[in-house]
Amino acid sequence: MMNGEPISYGANSLLSVTHLRSPPKMNHSHLLSDVMQLRQPSFVATFGQIAKEIPDAIMLSVGSPNATLFPFKEMTLTMRNGQDITVDEFMMKKCLQYGSAKGFEPLLEQLKILTKKLHEPPQWENKDIVVLAGSQMGIGLVFEMLVNPEDFVITPEPTYPGIFNALQPLPHQLVSVTCDSEGVRPDDLKDVLEKCRSSSKGKPKVMYVNPSGNNPTGVVWSESRRRLVYEIACQYDIIILEDDPYYLLEFSETLTPSFLHLDSENRVIRLDSFSKTVSAGIRLGYATGSKDLIEKLRLLMMCTINHVSLVAQYLKHESSEETNIDEELKCTAKRKT
Ligand SMILES: Cc1ncc(COP(=O)(O)O)c(C=O)c1O
Repeated sequence: MMNGEPISYGANSLLSVTHLRSPPKMNHSHLLSDVMQLRQPSFVATFGQIAKEIPDAIMLSVGSPNATLFPFKEMTLTMRNGQDITVDEFMMKKCLQYGSAKGFEPLLEQLKILTKKLHEPPQWENKDIVVLAGSQMGIGLVFEMLVNPEDFVITPEPTYPGIFNALQPLPHQLVSVTCDSEGVRPDDLKDVLEKCRSSSKGKPKVMYVNPSGNNPTGVVWSESRRRLVYEIACQYDIIILEDDPYYLLEFSETLTPSFLHLDSENRVIRLDSFSKTVSAGIRLGYATGSKDLIEKLRLLMMCTINHVSLVAQYLKHESSEETNIDEELKCTAKRKT
């Protein structure tokens, strides 16, 4: 249950975290699910890569349709601010053709600049981004990537009900941790992790958090609580799945540092979404995390939707051509009023 008053966890409390930071992790294979460990890089993607290096090669295995036969030729969209976005004939053909599972390169570059400015993630050179069709997709893929049926998923209580969509067939995996008005209670988190660790069945692999404007409580976790929780995650070697679609909608003047900002060990997978700030129906979001884990998410994309609609990605890119964090924040602030 979420109690009103936060408990104070001072430096001398029993909960003071004594964990000595280990070096950043570049390889998380010990945390992958059994099925994920067996997955191999996509043949189609590998052939596609080879084909790029051979001039005039036509890769039949990719099955690209003839772009001159697409029924849509061009389009112009007018934004509320009066700006027009035109997708000309050349770009239309590109947007309607198959693309890369990483995401549309110019949008990816924008997202990297934005993420770097907004979160200043440590270990940035060892992190990467993949474009997703919204946070919900990220939640499903991350659980698929990490969790075996007998493993434990730690979740604050109450939690965003959408995670049950991904986990419902295996309800015994879910372990709740109580919250107060600053976020998850570290004493409870440690107890829970200790119990999971001593289980003869599975491992605690991942903790789901929704720390800003939490759904359903609206709570924004305090910075000090985030730091404590991150330390505990390091101590117990679990991944933090930071699902943060309301991050830019925080009402305070300054944004609370994200878990990604604290991630010196490369154990946070952060999900951002444009559902709350641009459009929910456009189905656009992205995951940021350790390069090896993002590569695995890409592999799962290739098993499912291959990539997010290039029309959606192009429109998002064009609607914020200047990747200017101040502009992004100003637009978001306007939406709050
Ligand atoms: C906490 C949380 N996570 C994820 C989602 C789903 O977001 P998306 O539309 O990006 O899939 C929602 C939607 O309400 C949400 O509240």
